[in-house]
Amino acid sequence: MSFNMNEVITKKRDGGKLTEEEIKYFVNGYTDGSIPDYQAAALLMAIFFQHMDEEETLALTRAMKDSGDTVDLSSISGIKVDKHSTGGIGDKITLIAGPLAAACGVPIAKMSGRGLGFTGGTIDKLESIPGFQTTLAPAEFFKQVEEVGISLIGQSGHIAPADKKLYALRDVTATVADISLITSSIMSKKLAAGSDAIVLDVKCGKGAFMENEEEAAKLAETMCKVGNLAGKKTVAVLTDMNQPLGHAVGNAIEVIEAIETLKGRGPKDVTELSIYLAGWMVYLGRIASTHEEGQKMVRDALELGKALSIFRRLITSQGGNPRVVDNYNLLPQAAHKVDMFFNKEMLSGISSDGVNTAAPEDAVYYVSEIDSQRVGICSQRTGAGRAVKEDPIDPSAGVIVHKKIGDEVRLGDKLATFCGNNEDKVYIAINEAANIFTFSSTKTEPPALIKRTIE
Ligand code: URA
Repeated sequence: MSFNMNEVITKKRDGGKLTEEEIKYFVNGYTDGSIPDYQAAALLMAIFFQHMDEEETLALTRAMKDSGDTVDLSSISGIKVDKHSTGGIGDKITLIAGPLAAACGVPIAKMSGRGLGFTGGTIDKLESIPGFQTTLAPAEFFKQVEEVGISLIGQSGHIAPADKKLYALRDVTATVADISLITSSIMSKKLAAGSDAIVLDVKCGKGAFMENEEEAAKLAETMCKVGNLAGKKTVAVLTDMNQPLGHAVGNAIEVIEAIETLKGRGPKDVTELSIYLAGWMVYLGRIASTHEEGQKMVRDALELGKALSIFRRLITSQGGNPRVVDNYNLLPQAAHKVDMFFNKEMLSGISSDGVNTAAPEDAVYYVSEIDSQRVGICSQRTGAGRAVKEDPIDPSAGVIVHKKIGDEVRLGDKLATFCGNNEDKVYIAINEAANIFTFSSTKTEPPALIKRTIE
């Protein structure tokens, strides 16, 4: 049967339902270049306004998955479990939950991405460890999963090439934040990557694609349905992104925070979420018979230092220097570290809630909000992230957020530290950071980190 792209666009524009064949025609034609950008952009915008139902979303996901290579992990024994985050600020959870699940016996053969825009990427964080190789030949990758229990590598260019092209087009046509398009983009890569089960961390709040909890829940449900219909047991956890996870936002500084967490000294939120997600990974890997049992096993692995030891072996096996675990000075160090303090100018922002801005110097205030997206943007400005995907990054750069929502602050307290090797970039970041924090004279409860779980 032959198709006409103009007719496919018209059908969706008018609210019609696309057939599996029409969706395959679009995905294959756009990937091989026979459908031009302007027609693909028009269809994306039509999808953005008219939406796709579950059947269409599954067909789109499958067509995108089939546009490139799929990884066959069946030669690795056990149930392989993948984990994915929809993108957060300070999200170093893979570096912790991966070794935790592996320490409980779940084989982790994971492909991760690089950061773009205001969100970071696991591969950039790992590459801040001197010598760490994120490209392995398939045989080495498989062998490491068998021997160490975990391997974390960059996604090959041949996985879901349709997504690569479509994501770049969505990025410049204001069509990223659509449930079907996000689902097909993420799930096509997850299905192609070959694991048997998937744990999704769906972020919601100011620093996420989905600010609204109901929209994020819809995204989580759609991704779970598509995963399960494609034969992969999928669980999605809705988590808060109204403030950065932990304190460090960058690359080497996030690796340090991840190692501290593996040593049992990590920030409360990072520790809690790592245990919660790793607990699901252990359950889906059928090592535990309930999620609660999975979490208990994970807590034990953390307390006994088993996950830290797996992380060391992971570094060694991928060519990195494992001594970074004991000596953080072996990681890239920023030449410039500039602190931002709580000052009177910031106080003017709270007069609307009745605070007396002429309050005494020693008055106590509380952090009531953090603009986590802005923290991500400032981190990118320091050199820790990229504006376009060819940009080099400074592995030492980033932002350390010292105060979180609900924390007490007094004038002169340190709020954040901006780090990097390029002094100009560090000051550019600080100049854009003025409104990151909002304060109140009354204590604000921090938002719940784990909002709900969808099985
Ligand atoms: N991450 C992806 O890989 N794709 C999206 O569409 C959004 C987040």
